[in-house]
Amino acid sequence: MKKIVPLILLLAVISPILPLFGQQNSDPAASIINHYAARNFVPGAMNKADLDLIVQAGIRAPSASNRQPWHFTVVQDQNLAKQLVSNITDGNVLIVVSASGDGKTNGSQILDCALAVESIYLAAQALGYGSRIYTGPMNTLNSRYKADLGLPGGYSAVALVRVGKVQPGVDAVSAASGRKGADSLVTYK
Ligand SMILES: Cc1cc2nc3c(=O)[nH]c(=O)nc-3n(C[C@H](O)[C@H](O)[C@H](O)COP(=O)(O)O)c2cc1C
Repeated sequence: MKKIVPLILLLAVISPILPLFGQQNSDPAASIINHYAARNFVPGAMNKADLDLIVQAGIRAPSASNRQPWHFTVVQDQNLAKQLVSNITDGNVLIVVSASGDGKTNGSQILDCALAVESIYLAAQALGYGSRIYTGPMNTLNSRYKADLGLPGGYSAVALVRVGKVQPGVDAVSAASGRKGADSLVTYK
């Protein structure tokens, strides 16, 4: 008993700041519901095993007829990353998802890539990282950076996911914006 009381007191004191030491979400449903597009990345290298797992999440995404039409380019080179996303934070990794064609016209291929993008985005957050999807840089990327990124011949980038460290404590200012209500979006028959 003598040993337990100080332990309980210690836990009571440190529990509010535990999230600052990293946060993983082991509940997949909570990751899906609570995600937000990170705005405030902080400098710091990603763990290589985590990065591999995040890329695997993209590789494991479902696709029409299981065609798996995608290619994943993992940009760790900070100079190259900065040319694609100007406000890059040290240690951010960009995962570019590309597919054959112009990246715009093939319906199911775009949907397949979107699912891979979403899986990468959510896996990163489930592992305690911040992530944000970008399509804004795609025109520049496809017109100027295909060779630098080593995209397979005839492929175009569809989207990229920026992944990196975040300070869990800043959720209050960067958590997800509101969503439309189910009453205006869902019809039950
Ligand atoms: C297909 C797609 C493209 C996006 N492109 C960009 C982009 O180019 N630049 C950017 O800052 N955010 C981009 N975003 C992030 C969205 O703005 C963000 O997910 C949305 O505002 C919801 O954010 P929240 O969940 O934090 O509220 C993109 C998101 C999606 C799904």
